[in-house]
Amino acid sequence: PTFLKVKANALANPFFVGVAVKSNQLTEGSSYNTVLKNEFSSITAEYEMKMDPISTGSGTYNWQASDKIVKYGNDNGINVHGHALVWHNAVPNWLSTFSGTDVEFALEVKKYITDVVTRYAGKVRSWDVVNEAVADNGDMRNTIFLQKMGANYIKDCYQWARDAANAAGDTDLLLFYNDYATSTNIPKQNKVFTIVDDLKASNLIDGVGFQMHNTYLSPTKMQIETDINRAVAKGLKVHVSELDIQVNQNNDITFLTEERNLAQKAKYKEIVKIYNALPAVNKYALTVWGFKDNESWIPYSTDLNHPGNDWPLLYNNKFELKSAHTGFLEGL
Ligand code: XIL
Repeated sequence: PTFLKVKANALANPFFVGVAVKSNQLTEGSSYNTVLKNEFSSITAEYEMKMDPISTGSGTYNWQASDKIVKYGNDNGINVHGHALVWHNAVPNWLSTFSGTDVEFALEVKKYITDVVTRYAGKVRSWDVVNEAVADNGDMRNTIFLQKMGANYIKDCYQWARDAANAAGDTDLLLFYNDYATSTNIPKQNKVFTIVDDLKASNLIDGVGFQMHNTYLSPTKMQIETDINRAVAKGLKVHVSELDIQVNQNNDITFLTEERNLAQKAKYKEIVKIYNALPAVNKYALTVWGFKDNESWIPYSTDLNHPGNDWPLLYNNKFELKSAHTGFLEGL
C-alpha cells in the first residue's frame, strides 16, 4: 500500500501527517508502532501531555508518559506537537481546589507553563498554549482561568510560553490557539479570531489549530475553507489538529454501512484536499485523532449524542485500512 506520510512528503509543498498517540502504543514491535512509523510524521499526545496528568502539585510533576512520547518522536524523526498547556477539561484536582489568592493561582499557572515549555524546549516543535477558550455561544468560556486570572489570562499564558522557550534558546517554538466547531458556529469563529488577532498584535501566536471533530455531513467544504482562510489571511499556520469524521452522529445505524463508509471517504478526501491546497507557508500538519475506530474517544464522549457505535477513523477495529484511508490518500 501507499503510506500517508510518504505521499505527503513527496508533495511540492509537503506537510506533516499526524496522529494522536498514547504512550503505551509506542512499544517497539507493536502494531501501533509499525503503523505509526510507516504512515505518520507527527504525533500529538491524546491525553498525557495535558496539565492534569503532568502536574501532581505545586512545582511537582509526573513526566513519565510525556517524556516517553517526546523521546519517541525525537528518536524516530517524528515531529512532536504539544497539547495542551491550558485546558479547562484537564485541570488537576489540586489546582481546581486551590485555596490561595488569585495572584498565587496565576503564579502556579505561570510556573507550570514555564517548567513544561522549558523541559521540552527544542524537543517539541509547537504547543497548543490555550485550548477551547471560547464557549459555544461566542463568549469567553467561563473557566477557572478566566475567573481567577481575568480576561488577560490568554495573553499572559502565551507570553509565559514564549518567554520560557526563548530563555531556553528555542526561538523557533510555534504557539497555537486550538478550538472546535468554529467552521459551523460563526459567533464562536468570530470570537476565536478576535483572540487570535489580539495575540498576533503582540507577536505571540504562530498558528491556529482547527480540531475538526466533524461528521460525514458537516461542515461543508465552503464552511471549512472560510474558517481556515481567516488564519491564512493573517499569515498564520494552520493545524487540522484532531480530525475524525463521525458517521453515526444521530445514532441511527448499528454497523458501518457502505453508504456511510463512502460518504466518510469522500469527506476525508475533501478536507485533505482543502488542506493540501494551502500556501506552503501556512501548512504545518494534518493530524487524525487516533488509530482504530473502537479506540476513538468519539463513541464514549458523553458530550456527543450517540453513546454507541461510531467509526470515525482511518483503521477499523482489526487495524485494517478503511475506505477513509483511501480517501485521505486521494486528497494528496
Ligand atoms: C480527548 C481524548 O481523546 C480523550 O482520550 C480524553 O479522555 C479527553 O480528551 N478536544 C481536545 C482533545 O482538545 O484534547 C480531546 O481529547 C477531545 C476534544
